[in-house]
Amino acid sequence: MQHPLQQISLARPDDWHLHLRDGAAMAAVVAYSARQFHRAIIMPNLRPPVTTTELALAYHQRILDALPADSDFQPLMTLYLTDTTSADEVRRAQKSGYVHAVKLYPAGATTHSDAGVTDLAKVDDTLTVMAEIGLPLLVHGEMTRADIDVFDREKAFIDNQLAPLLTRHPQLKVVFEHITTADAAQFVHDSGANVAATITPQHLLYNRNAMLVGGMHPHFYCLPVLKRENHRQALIKAATSGNPRFFLGTDSAPHSRSAKESACGCAGIFSAHAAIELYASAFEQAGALDRLEGFASHFGADFYGLPRNKERVTLVKQNWQVPDTLPFADTAGEAPLVPFLAGETLHWKLQP
Ligand code: DOR
Ligand code: ZN
Repeated sequence: MQHPLQQISLARPDDWHLHLRDGAAMAAVVAYSARQFHRAIIMPNLRPPVTTTELALAYHQRILDALPADSDFQPLMTLYLTDTTSADEVRRAQKSGYVHAVKLYPAGATTHSDAGVTDLAKVDDTLTVMAEIGLPLLVHGEMTRADIDVFDREKAFIDNQLAPLLTRHPQLKVVFEHITTADAAQFVHDSGANVAATITPQHLLYNRNAMLVGGMHPHFYCLPVLKRENHRQALIKAATSGNPRFFLGTDSAPHSRSAKESACGCAGIFSAHAAIELYASAFEQAGALDRLEGFASHFGADFYGLPRNKERVTLVKQNWQVPDTLPFADTAGEAPLVPFLAGETLHWKLQP
């Protein structure tokens, strides 16, 4: 019988989907990501959204200013696609060297998505240019029409929006963000080299029972929402398959405790305090720890055309308890943040 691994070493991972917020909120959380990851794709859903190169460069500088002095963390910026984002703007963004992708939020899909795209036809010329210059489109893949059940929104997005989009723009690089269904995993699997997906730790570790059984658990609520067990199994299979078009993206998204524990709780799970440890648990449960490094540290960089990280990190098998709360601040002032799996014991620990 083989002994279970007590330690794993991997190239420093990157986070290909991260919400850092801004101001005091960002200052409270950015060090968690910087401790784990070398680089992260930074989501542009601020208020107001990051819609221009100029706004992205200014946000980039604010992130650098909020980092611990010894950090070499690199924020990779994105633009928020609106109905009026021009082809010139995306050219300018890519030329800046700081903007690595453009994010599509269908209007109304999630937190701060009201400025999102109302009709993909309106941005068709912009997408043509993005395909030409190789600038990836990152999609929040949910179709938001009121008559579509929230559990079916990802599948509806594939059928009605993503598949036709790729027919019109077969060369466009697309990252299907935070996929949650067997349908999305299959779609990416069947697509060409220009289509990839990120997968969050929560969607690998939990199904919707975690959110809804024995009471409503708001700290398991994110969008797209957790799905049934057969979908989780399909995501595990995709993540551990060694297919380089599935890679790590935490979607870590901090909201204060009061914003989450409310009559209309916000969508978003903060996982940056333990991200790589959570992925290690998911891969271990699947008997696939040997596949973690590709998923966490190689495939995303390859897809974005960036060098793989040379530095290495070590995870050890060691029990530790997630704090009940972490210090945070929202627009109303100081407010605690409840980290994912608060109070629970995790079994892997990233070495400092
Ligand atoms: O759960 C989510 N939270 N999903 C998103 O798409 C956005 C994010 C946020 O910004 O809070
Ligand atoms: Zn997100």
